[in-house]
Amino acid sequence: MNATAAVAAAVVPAAGRGERLGPGAPKALRELGGVPLLVHAVRALARSRAVGLVVVAAPADGVAEVVGLLDSHGLDGKDIRVVAGGATRQESVRLGLAAIPADVEIVLVHDAARPLVPVEVVDAVAAAVRAGAEAVVPAVPLADTVKRVEPNRGGPEPVLDTPDRSTLRAVQTPQGFRRETLAAVHEKALTEEAAGGLPPVTDDAGLVERFGGRVVVVPGHEEAFKVTRPLDLVLAEAVLARRRASDGY
Ligand code: CTP
Ligand code: MG
Repeated sequence: MNATAAVAAAVVPAAGRGERLGPGAPKALRELGGVPLLVHAVRALARSRAVGLVVVAAPADGVAEVVGLLDSHGLDGKDIRVVAGGATRQESVRLGLAAIPADVEIVLVHDAARPLVPVEVVDAVAAAVRAGAEAVVPAVPLADTVKRVEPNRGGPEPVLDTPDRSTLRAVQTPQGFRRETLAAVHEKALTEEAAGGLPPVTDDAGLVERFGGRVVVVPGHEEAFKVTRPLDLVLAEAVLARRRASDGY
């Protein structure tokens, strides 16, 4: 592996609307401590020595705005590029991936909606891919017991079973991949989708699993949680305030 190949590129899907967060700007542009979520997420990646390039998949009508935001927050040190994202997260990742130079062999995919991921998680995921894994996901054990149900929105839902909690993990990002693996499964998914096949997945490792690849889990971090609902933003503000008070973050 040459020097360029050992350095990972990161794709940041940031083109979602953030419907579960409620009315307002697209989620990636909503502020946390006065700074857009996306800027926090890109900074977290840029802080890792394992990452040499970050490609942001912005809302299709917000590319110029995102370029401006990244510039105005002093993120012009590392190589950061912005492309237009797509209608689904999967499509946004595929479009971001297409903008990564051919000689990059390791790709991380990190949600813009996970602004507080510790750099140690980024480093650990990249290191696991470097050490030979084709797909790596950071994950944490579940606090709640989980039940599988027959969905019946709003009404009582019959319980099918209760998976053994000790075997379950809540997965986070960044997820790390051999670039050729990630590109191949996205290509296959696109072909399948065009043929009227399976629906898009909510994480990239899910695509690797779908096509028979091997995915491993490494320890994630509770602060790598995804900002999804309004309460998550309250928690994120508290974590950020604590970091700023304790280490001038
Ligand atoms: N994402 C994307 N392109 C899409 C949809 C989602 O790049 N078409 C990104 C989001 O911007 C986010 C990440 O994928 O960083 C995880 O998705 P999620 O948490 O579901 O974000 P949203 O889709 O924005 O939120 P919601 O589902 O509540 O609308
Ligand atoms: Mg979504």
